[in-house]
Amino acid sequence: MTGLNVIEARGLCKDRVSSFLLKRSMVLDNLSLTVKQGETYGLLGPNGAGKTTTVKILLGLMKPDRGEVSVLGKTAGDHSSLKRIGFLPENPYFYSHLTGLEFLEFIARLFGLKRFEIKDRIKDLLRLVSMEADANKPMNKYSKGMLQRLGIAQSLINDPDILFWDEPMSGLDPIGRRDVREIINQLKRNGKTIFFNSHLLPDVNEVCDRVGVLVKGRLVTEEKISNIDQGGGYRDLEDFFLAQAER
Ligand SMILES: Nc1ncnc2c1ncn2[C@@H]1O[C@H](COP(=O)(O)OP(=O)(O)OP(=O)(O)O)[C@@H](O)[C@H]1O
Ligand SMILES: [Mg+2]
Repeated sequence: MTGLNVIEARGLCKDRVSSFLLKRSMVLDNLSLTVKQGETYGLLGPNGAGKTTTVKILLGLMKPDRGEVSVLGKTAGDHSSLKRIGFLPENPYFYSHLTGLEFLEFIARLFGLKRFEIKDRIKDLLRLVSMEADANKPMNKYSKGMLQRLGIAQSLINDPDILFWDEPMSGLDPIGRRDVREIINQLKRNGKTIFFNSHLLPDVNEVCDRVGVLVKGRLVTEEKISNIDQGGGYRDLEDFFLAQAER
């Protein structure tokens, strides 16, 4: 891990105006965070806390009402940094008549991979997510976990430096969750930066270097996993999370 901040968010606010009496409330309330190159950061928080909104803003898919974001030293959504980013959305949508292989080929072409690179790259990724046997089936025959594995594979097609994964373990069986943990550990060894949202605290505990807890749009705490593991007054990450989320 280097000292370089590759993700920087300062004072992010996102307002929500409800149609009833045009009442204002905040989806994100003055959220600031930084992630260093090579770090694995887990953003935790109850349903509706604003985790997905945060990822969307970091990617430039949504504009904050106030505050600033830089990713790889550029404004969020800048074309040159997007090329170095991989993204797994919370509820990925795939063109289900395509096979998994056809979908990955399409994504590879979108990223401008050369024809000769595509075959080897896809073969490696299908092996990584244990989808070689199902690659030629149409995606409307895939289970939720198979789609999630394919989503992970597509997020890696451009060999990105930073991964933004929104609930990567969601829908996976215990084998799939273990596989994703192993993939994350492998990416970490290769120096990648990983930012992800998750509710699966044992997995977060195993792979993250640092976590932040978001509650009602406010980042109430950040802590290194090693500090939580080694005393810190908490039994485990779940105990830490519940203490922060319910305070
Ligand atoms: N498209 C939208 N329009 C209006 N409000 C939205 C929209 N998407 C999300 N919200 C609101 O923003 C808040 C934060 O939602 P967000 O999806 O960021 O939460 P989350 O932490 O990712 O939750 P979860 O754990 O359920 O995925 C919620 O109160 C939600 O109702
Ligand atoms: Mg979400």
